[in-house]
Amino acid sequence: MLAPSYLPEAKHNLIDELLEGLDPGALSWLSGYFAGVAQGRQPAKASTSVAAVPAAATAKRLTILYGSQTGNAKRVAEALAERTQAVGLSTRLVRADSYNTRELKDEQLLYIVMSTQGDGEAPDDSRSFTEFLASKRAPKLPQLKYAVLGLGDSSYPLFCGMAQSLDSRLAELGAQRLQEVGTADLDIDTVAAPWQDRALEHAQKALKQGEATTATVTALRPKASKVTRDQPHLAELLLNQPITDHGSGKDVRHLEISLEGSSLSYQPGDALGIWPTQSDSLVQSVAAAFGLDLDATVEINEVRRPLREWLVKHRELTVLTKPFLVAHAQRANNPELQKRVAEPESLRTLLNDYQLLDLVKEYPAAWEATPLVQALRPLAPRMYSIASSQAAVGSEVHLTLAHVNYERDEEQRWGCASHFLSDLEEGGKLPVFIEENPRFRLPADPARDVIMIGPGTGVAPFRAFVQERSAAGASGRNWLFFGNPHFDSDFLYQTEWQRALKDGDLHRLDLAFSRDQSEKVYVQDKLLAAASDVYQWLQNGAHLYVCGDATRMAKDVHAALLQVAETEGGLQPEAARQWLDGLAAEGRYARDVY
Ligand SMILES: Cc1cc2nc3c(=O)[nH]c(=O)nc-3n(C[C@H](O)[C@H](O)[C@H](O)COP(=O)(O)OP(=O)(O)OC[C@H]3O[C@@H](n4cnc5c(N)ncnc54)[C@H](O)[C@@H]3O)c2cc1C
Ligand SMILES: Cc1cc2nc3c(=O)[nH]c(=O)nc-3n(C[C@H](O)[C@H](O)[C@H](O)COP(=O)(O)O)c2cc1C
Repeated sequence: MLAPSYLPEAKHNLIDELLEGLDPGALSWLSGYFAGVAQGRQPAKASTSVAAVPAAATAKRLTILYGSQTGNAKRVAEALAERTQAVGLSTRLVRADSYNTRELKDEQLLYIVMSTQGDGEAPDDSRSFTEFLASKRAPKLPQLKYAVLGLGDSSYPLFCGMAQSLDSRLAELGAQRLQEVGTADLDIDTVAAPWQDRALEHAQKALKQGEATTATVTALRPKASKVTRDQPHLAELLLNQPITDHGSGKDVRHLEISLEGSSLSYQPGDALGIWPTQSDSLVQSVAAAFGLDLDATVEINEVRRPLREWLVKHRELTVLTKPFLVAHAQRANNPELQKRVAEPESLRTLLNDYQLLDLVKEYPAAWEATPLVQALRPLAPRMYSIASSQAAVGSEVHLTLAHVNYERDEEQRWGCASHFLSDLEEGGKLPVFIEENPRFRLPADPARDVIMIGPGTGVAPFRAFVQERSAAGASGRNWLFFGNPHFDSDFLYQTEWQRALKDGDLHRLDLAFSRDQSEKVYVQDKLLAAASDVYQWLQNGAHLYVCGDATRMAKDVHAALLQVAETEGGLQPEAARQWLDGLAAEGRYARDVY
């Protein structure tokens, strides 16, 4: 905080007003901006008695940019910034869409931590930055030293695709790579921790520690509560209730979980992280398929456990990764599988449609217990959008869960976490933590209208939004678009929405039951049918949210919104794109898609 004596009270109040509600990325950007302004206002030979600012703002400073959809890359970037600051390096931490790309040509030392989303795409908060860098407008960067750390999931064909592209593009622009691009899988720290160690060493050398000024410019988020991803809270399941009817092709549950006895709290928009365990029957089938003894002891990195425990609690069995497929193809010594793994489209099919059992059945290979455990990816927690507001449910947290459950070659297959949760009886325990999602928040101004597009389980956060706005007595209107196959069997939370409409907590509900008529109707069709109102609400300041399926729905809704801007706003395609990007940059178009 600035000492009041530096500023007249009126200015001080203005600063307080400006800072209110800003996240760490915005604060960092602002402090960098102020440092730059101060730099410009200093006389040629500045007296050293003024508040310390970098002698050449960019020359002695490390900039860490992050791009993150669900917070992982942000967390890693924050940890890195804390470490560089702790050794006295002047550091600023900036969210990619808050970064002024005009500064790039003067930047001396830049680290980028970015996840990959979609199919090799940038997170929503980084689209403008990555597009700028890929474009012809990007300057040559011979002065720049850089390093990129990617976060991703090796069960996706384009593993850390966005980090890889950024890394090559910066090199192409003439920047000097300080270390190889890091590609962290879901067990993030395995790669991120050593990458950070090296990055810290490079930064110390590049900034010649000791010469750095004392002006650190980053405001970091306060330390999270003691419950973390790696130290979850063991919560109790209070309710596990099917909310689709027997006629439905889907098994969707409403879960209520108690957070009693923990320090956990959450806001609408956040997700609950859950550490699942594999089902005993799957573990037995896997051991049988490889002819392995589940009681045999397996030691990895000095950790000794029975094979059963490794497979139940510590390894993925339902999701394959490219490194495992490569290793399995070698062991199977099967040219057909080797060809499939090498060819991008058939690799995609293997990654998307095959579980470990499917692979072994079609392509048998011999594995001993230890190399198998080493090759399988560590089990990762799954995220679920929170479907409740604490203003309404106190210390509970509610979820809307789709049980991934399908047949393959007449055998039943499940998703690991959704099966673990569906199978859990009331009173059962589950390890949980909160995954904050500061980019998916209700408007600070309760008078703003909100438009919520959430087909299927995508409706979950909007149940939380409506509960929260109702409890707060928000005066803005709430408009929900919901869709699913059938009205009769798949209308999730039907009675709650009807009550909310009656009570004035929900002002408009547009429904798309895709298979109740001869032509398929989806939420994007309903959006187009209501184009005039949607555009008007948005022009009047409404916030629009999309949650649910990333592969098709989110893209179709995005395209529909562009069309709304063209037909209702009379915008050309490029202007429509800018309009939508503008809404996203203002935080009025936010997505939580998976
Ligand atoms: C931010 C976020 C929020 C989320 N919110 C929710 C939510 O509110 N509700 C919700 O239900 N989920 C939500 N999810 C998804 C959730 O995290 C899990 O991904 C989902 O439950 C599946 O996990 P699983 O462990 O059951 O399946 P996994 O074990 O991870 O995957 C099962 C495997 O089976 C394959 N598979 C699945 N279906 C078929 C099929 N028909 N044919 C062939 N192969 C198939 C898959 O490709 C995969 O390889 C969210 C995800 C994110 C990232
Ligand atoms: C809808 C969706 C699409 C994804 N696509 C990719 C991908 O193409 N490549 C990849 O390596 N990881 C992909 N991931 C995995 C994320 O990059 C990974 O979960 C990462 O840890 C998220 O970090 P963040 O929270 O900072 O966004 C995807 C995740 C989701 C939910």
